[in-house]
Formats: sequence, C-alpha cells, structure tokens
Amino acid sequence: MIPYLGCKQSFASEILANIPAADNFYDLFGGGGSVIEAAHRCRENGLFGEWVKWKYLHYNEINKGVCRLCRALWAGRFDFKFAKAQEPTKERYYEERRKPTAWGAFVSMIWSFGNRDESFIYASKSNVMRHNEHLQRIKRMEKSPILPDVEMYCKDYRDVKIACNSVVYCDIPYQVKNNHCKTKIKFNHLDFYEWAASRKFPVYFSEYDCFDKRFQLIWNKCVPAKINRKYINNKTLYKIEKLFWNGVKNG
Ligand SMILES: C[S@@+](CC[C@H](N)C(=O)[O-])C[C@H]1O[C@@H](n2cnc3c(N)ncnc32)[C@H](O)[C@@H]1O
Repeated sequence: MIPYLGCKQSFASEILANIPAADNFYDLFGGGGSVIEAAHRCRENGLFGEWVKWKYLHYNEINKGVCRLCRALWAGRFDFKFAKAQEPTKERYYEERRKPTAWGAFVSMIWSFGNRDESFIYASKSNVMRHNEHLQRIKRMEKSPILPDVEMYCKDYRDVKIACNSVVYCDIPYQVKNNHCKTKIKFNHLDFYEWAASRKFPVYFSEYDCFDKRFQLIWNKCVPAKINRKYINNKTLYKIEKLFWNGVKNG
C-alpha cells in the first residue's frame, strides 16, 4: 500500500463488510490501493473450501503515476533497492514529482509532507535524519502484498466499463476546503451524484456528508481527521466517515 492522503487503510475492512458479495468488485477511485488490498483479504476458509467474497478485483485511478506505482508494487516490480539508494533533495522533489511514472508518484508521496504532494518533507533535516526517515517511509511500502490478478485502469471513473454482477465502491475526493486531490483535477460532486444515482448497478461511496436524498447512509464511524488541520488547540480533530449507497441491488 502507498501512504496516501485520504487512505482508508485503518477501516477499509469495516467499509467492505457493508458491501455485498458479487462476482466483481470495482474500486473506481483507487488511490494508494488500501481498499483493493483489503478486498483481496475478504476470503474465508469454510466447510466447502475457500470462499471469496469477490472473484475479480478491479482498481481504477485517474492519476497515471499513482496507477503505475500500484501496478509495480502489486507485481513485485517496484525497485526498492534503487529507491533506498536515492538522496531526497528539494530540487529533485520539484523536478520529478509530476512525472507520470511510478517513480514520479513515489517522489510525490514519499518525499512530501504528510504524503500530500505539496511540500518537500526533509527540508530542515540533517542528512542522517533525512536518510533514516526516508528508509522508514519506504519500509511501510515494502509491506505491500503481491496482487497479480487485479484488473487495472487509469481512467475517469465514468469511462470504466462495469461487468454484470458487480459492486462499485467510490472513495471520491471529499468536499472539504483545500482538498486538492493528487491529480489537481477539480472534482465535480454534483456530476458524481448524478452518475451514481443513475447507475443500474450498486454504487457505494465514502464522504463526510451527502445531503442528496437519493442516497442511503449505511455506515458511519468517528475517526481522527487527516484532511486539513488535524489538531485544534492541541486536540485531535475527529470526523465522521460515512458510507452511502445508491439503493440498487444486484439481480
Ligand atoms: C480519497 S482518494 C482515494 C484514496 C484511496 N481509497 C486510498 O485508500 O488510498 C481519491 C482518488 O480519486 C482520484 N480521482 C480524482 N478524480 C477522479 C476521477 N474523475 N476518476 C477517477 N479517479 C479520480 C484521485 O486522484 C485520488 O487518488
């Protein structure tokens, strides 16, 4: 998994527990891949052998670099030896982070403050601290599983063709001030709601809130906020993560 702004790692399995089984599971806003990795773990060994909640997993992400980085990690092809040997510098950060490659996405996240792809994280650190912190951050990524069977797309969410008997999960960029998703592409929430409400397949999406009555709230959880200021008067700020559903069932 890539450390990613808006990452669902700590409660992905709780979200997935609320999404029914189907042949296909689509994560249309895949980002750092935490949801697909959790979906891959949704299998049990029952009386009749292994039961897999979703037979086929599909990951989509509009940001080419991020998509390529997930592809490389899940194929076991990301060159960690090369990454560890690199010296993070501010110049290289600004030069390389926008490259639409796995390396560009790596630099934009691992060399940036809060993995936000906004500013260089190691600026005020000594060379030794910089090196050690860099290695620590890479270590977390090295724990990514090998997932050779995930179908991957790098498209706008509306352009992914959804197969029969599917469930779709959308971790859209949240409607909060200064939430620049990594593509720096403006996200139109009203267009998304129109799209989700008019689908003939089940669509589930995460948000802090949605006042459109066409969607049902099916799960919520109080979690420490990661977007915007995390602390107010030195106290952790909490947000309620919510999961909404378009009300459509399969078959
Ligand atoms: C909240 S993040 C997803 C985080 C992810 N669930 C994780 O755990 O790492 C939203 C993602 O949607 C992507 N995105 C934004 N607009 C998109 C679009 N029109 N189609 C597909 N993906 C899009 C962004 O690049 C960003 O990676």
